[in-house]
Amino acid sequence: MNVTISDTIKYIGVDDLTLDIFEGQYEVEEGISYNSYLILDEKTCLLDTVDARGTQEWENNLEEALAGRKLDYLVIHHMEPDHAGSLGRLLELHPEVTLVGNAKTFQMVPQFLDKEPTQEKLTVKENDTLSLGEHTLTFLMAPMVHWPEVMVSYESKEKLLFSADGFGTFGALSVRGLDDWACEARRYYFNIVGKYGAPVQTLLKKAAALDIAAICPLHGPILRENLPYYIGLYDTWSKYEPENKGVFVAYASIHGNTAEAAQLLAEQLKEAGVEKVAISDLTRDDMSEAIEDAFRYDRMVLCASSYDGGVFLPMENFLVKLTAKAYQNRKVALVENGSWAPSAARKMTEYLAAMKNVEVLEDVVTIRSTVKEETKEALKRLAGELV
Ligand code: FEO
Repeated sequence: MNVTISDTIKYIGVDDLTLDIFEGQYEVEEGISYNSYLILDEKTCLLDTVDARGTQEWENNLEEALAGRKLDYLVIHHMEPDHAGSLGRLLELHPEVTLVGNAKTFQMVPQFLDKEPTQEKLTVKENDTLSLGEHTLTFLMAPMVHWPEVMVSYESKEKLLFSADGFGTFGALSVRGLDDWACEARRYYFNIVGKYGAPVQTLLKKAAALDIAAICPLHGPILRENLPYYIGLYDTWSKYEPENKGVFVAYASIHGNTAEAAQLLAEQLKEAGVEKVAISDLTRDDMSEAIEDAFRYDRMVLCASSYDGGVFLPMENFLVKLTAKAYQNRKVALVENGSWAPSAARKMTEYLAAMKNVEVLEDVVTIRSTVKEETKEALKRLAGELV
């Protein structure tokens, strides 16, 4: 993949178009990129390796860019295998390299290798610098964005922020450019980093003190233009503030009756003038898209069948995931269906009550098996409350 940064900083990452599920959970129909960068100065410095799935192509890119030079440093911003998965191969190729990481990085390194590497280690902490000649890296710790050892670095000559997973997106670079960056960046953020809003806020405050010309993440495109837009979205997301006014309707239906109610409600919400209505079938749509939409909008309606004295399991799974990702600061309405002893609303309320600052509307719509005139009226009243 041909990505230009500058004459002296080369992109040597790879696209992975063969992977269907990233990290065992997230569909990546457009693939994903594992970004890796090489600084060519008096010293040569590699910034992260790539997933083992891309080792061979990346190795070719690295050697071509080095053009016979030795490798002086490898900066390890993040030890997760999608970035450190080629570390073992790098140490075989360039035993002369000095590894640069923080104390937590070096605790993890041997966990992912067969043995403790024999290479020299340079342990850095907050605001330490590494001079490469004309280029200088300053290291900023970013614990829990999204692992504890994560750090980012700022290169002061070209004003580049190497942001680790921060500002990353799904999508291979050869498939997805900057168009509608937010769509896949938002899905990536809330599903992967979403739990760690406070650490992201800490990192954003550090970044605010820097003069940044471009952000170079470990996944997805390099961000050069309109940086306040990207940083502003990260600020909104990490504060758990809604990005847009709108209602997300999520439903889990066994025989289609709850689905009918959810679709009817979505139409009523549109007719009532709600700015944006998104809807998802939790039994078949991509769960990570549903998580994304739950965080994107300021209101949500959960519509679910009762099941085994609780709530239908696709909805319970959704609520478990929302809990794990620290869903908060939203207004939620409930629609339940039950043919003999409706139990879905009680169970959904238990989950929501444990979340921070989630207001559950008292007016719960209970369907007895199928949608009737009285159901339509009740849904209409609910839509009115949500406008
Ligand atoms: Fe892209 Fe947390 O790894």
